[in-house]
Amino acid sequence: MKFISEKDVKGKTILLRADINSEVIKKKVLMSDRIKATAETIKSLKKRHAKIVVLAHQSRPGKSDFISLNQHAKLINKITKIKFVDDIYGYKAKKEIQSLKNGEALLLENVRFLKEEFMTGKTKFVDVLSSLCDVYVNDALSVSHRAQASVVSFPKYMESYAGPILEKELNGLKKIKLKNCVYILGGAKPDDNIHLIGKNKILTCGLFGPMCLVASGIKLGAEENYLKKNIKNYNKILKNLKIKLKKYEKYVELPVDFAVDEKGKRINLEIKKFPNNFETYDIGSETIKKYIQEIKKAKSVYVKGPAGYYTKKNFLKGTSEILRAISESSAFSLLGGGDLDAAMKMSGISSKKFGYVSLSGGALLQFIAGKKLPGLAALGFYKK
Ligand code: 3PG
Repeated sequence: MKFISEKDVKGKTILLRADINSEVIKKKVLMSDRIKATAETIKSLKKRHAKIVVLAHQSRPGKSDFISLNQHAKLINKITKIKFVDDIYGYKAKKEIQSLKNGEALLLENVRFLKEEFMTGKTKFVDVLSSLCDVYVNDALSVSHRAQASVVSFPKYMESYAGPILEKELNGLKKIKLKNCVYILGGAKPDDNIHLIGKNKILTCGLFGPMCLVASGIKLGAEENYLKKNIKNYNKILKNLKIKLKKYEKYVELPVDFAVDEKGKRINLEIKKFPNNFETYDIGSETIKKYIQEIKKAKSVYVKGPAGYYTKKNFLKGTSEILRAISESSAFSLLGGGDLDAAMKMSGISSKKFGYVSLSGGALLQFIAGKKLPGLAALGFYKK
């Protein structure tokens, strides 16, 4: 694997696959650590007199936060100048790329707007951008688990490098020993979590907690309907979970209560009060206590995603108390996914209290589960 930090990039047009996928609330993109870190990468490449063309995504087709990257460009612009182009490889994009000067950067539109992003081989998308740019840089471990064109196809046709964020993430991961680790698996993407069942003790939360309860035969009512509506491939995930939970039941801790919203107030409901008409917004107080006991016993802890709807003040508690318990324990901790950094800030806990805080979620999880990530393979990471 080669690193862009070691290459002379003066005058080179760099196709930079970044990850600026961020939380969106009421159609507004929130500033995130991914956006800040990517802006720093762009800034450093500009200083080195490169021309930078950024390819990135926001969310996935079908989701409510699957939107344009124009707001992301505005956020990057708070740190370093970048021009947004509402095109990816058409006439407009070509013209803008060809007129870039040394030290200038542009951000192309959401790459997942293109059907070619989900296709293999040298599509017109790959052909056009690879001929307009000199080198390809993957600067996102966080998207390297996706075998999508912007991650795996360009390295087949271009000189390719790992960017500074990816380099830092890989260095961070070298420090971690994951034997006898407690996994705290939350966040909004329960499908990713299945890969880790059967490896170590798991404390389930986020959307994964309710998913596991449903898979173990508990009826949740409104929350179950929410999951059915919002989780892509719900039935398939549920089927896989049922099989895994049956086999590895002893490894998996399930929530024993939840916090719900009753007329703007946080109310605690034990599992026996379900099914009901409440969607669950956080793990409840007994679950928090139970999980903190497990954290106290752990030698190392890996947290993926928040325990609940942490951006709503009333429902930050689960995530916040879990983070506090980890920050006070002597266990080595690795955190990634669901913008845990934002949850840390909201809880008033410094990121310095944790072993390593990654910008990756699902990709980090697959890396930990020992899976080969296609994006890293494309850069030659696994070659001896
Ligand atoms: C993430 O948020 O984990 C990355 O941006 C990847 O997003 P994805 O799970 O939609 O591929």
